Amino acid sequence: MKTKPFIEKKLNEIKDTVGSGKAISALSGGVDSSTCTVLAHKALGDRLQVIYIDDGLMRENEDQYVTRIFSDMGIEVEVIDARKDFFSALKGIADPEEKRKAFRNKFYEAFGDAVLKSGARHLVQGTIAADIIETKGGVKTQHNILEQIGIDSEKGYGFKVIEPLKELFKFEVRKVAKSLGLPKELYQRMPFPGPGLATRVIGEVTEGRVRRLSKATQIVEEEIADLDPFQAFAVLLNDKGTGIEQGKRKFGEIVIIRSVESKDAMTAEPTKVPWKTLTKISKRITEEIPTVTRVAYEITPKPPATIEYI
Ligand code: XMP
Repeated sequence: MKTKPFIEKKLNEIKDTVGSGKAISALSGGVDSSTCTVLAHKALGDRLQVIYIDDGLMRENEDQYVTRIFSDMGIEVEVIDARKDFFSALKGIADPEEKRKAFRNKFYEAFGDAVLKSGARHLVQGTIAADIIETKGGVKTQHNILEQIGIDSEKGYGFKVIEPLKELFKFEVRKVAKSLGLPKELYQRMPFPGPGLATRVIGEVTEGRVRRLSKATQIVEEEIADLDPFQAFAVLLNDKGTGIEQGKRKFGEIVIIRSVESKDAMTAEPTKVPWKTLTKISKRITEEIPTVTRVAYEITPKPPATIEYI
């Protein structure tokens, strides 16, 4: 893939598809949707409305981060608070595939409402090649796949989807992002899945469990940053394990630390995290999140495991 001609081609395609109308960009703050947003903004200017849906499942203070970094690039981001809707859509669901489908449905309903209000006909989103391959191959339903598995977005949600990056893998998206002038902290950002922390909470996704996982995620990201892994995060299991508090048994939560190296997210190897870093993370998690009694490091490559837990 040659970056400059790729960008030119995509700018023309977006202009041709949207014509004189308006479009909405579904921004999550990840590399893929950020790249799409800048690309579509270059193509459409003010006719692009950029929306960040706060589903309550993103990293801590992500809405503030996203609005600031895009405002620095001269792009205004509208934040829609849909936390309540997402938590009620996920209530009581423990099955991983059902969870993904419930998230996808709520995600597109929320954008369907936004599109309807704005008078736009198109939604720009950051689907990449790995998302399509894994969903079509039956590994898991990635949140942003519709047309490739026979779902008509216009009939179902009232808009057509534009996916400028769907032929690219992550390392190629990063090249496009760099060439478009996105800041380094954005184009080098670790991947973060669309359904967010819902992919890392085993069992029911509740606000309390997500809040604790979000804190654990922040600790892992902070402590592991120097190693610059492809992706590193925390996972909250549904099991419990015994710990000790003031000399008495405490049956507490279990957090898994996952860190992997990969080029395209299709295969991955566990990061050789130094012992000192792991023990520091474990100490911080058990001290800063008192409901957790155990922390473990996961060493399974992909395959046979996947990167995320659901
Ligand atoms: P897995 O878990 O399948 O993940 O090995 C491969 C890569 O894709 C990310 N991922 C997602 N990204 N929507 C996304 O936008 C999703 O539904 C989704 N599920 C997984 C994951 O973080 C990893 O980088």
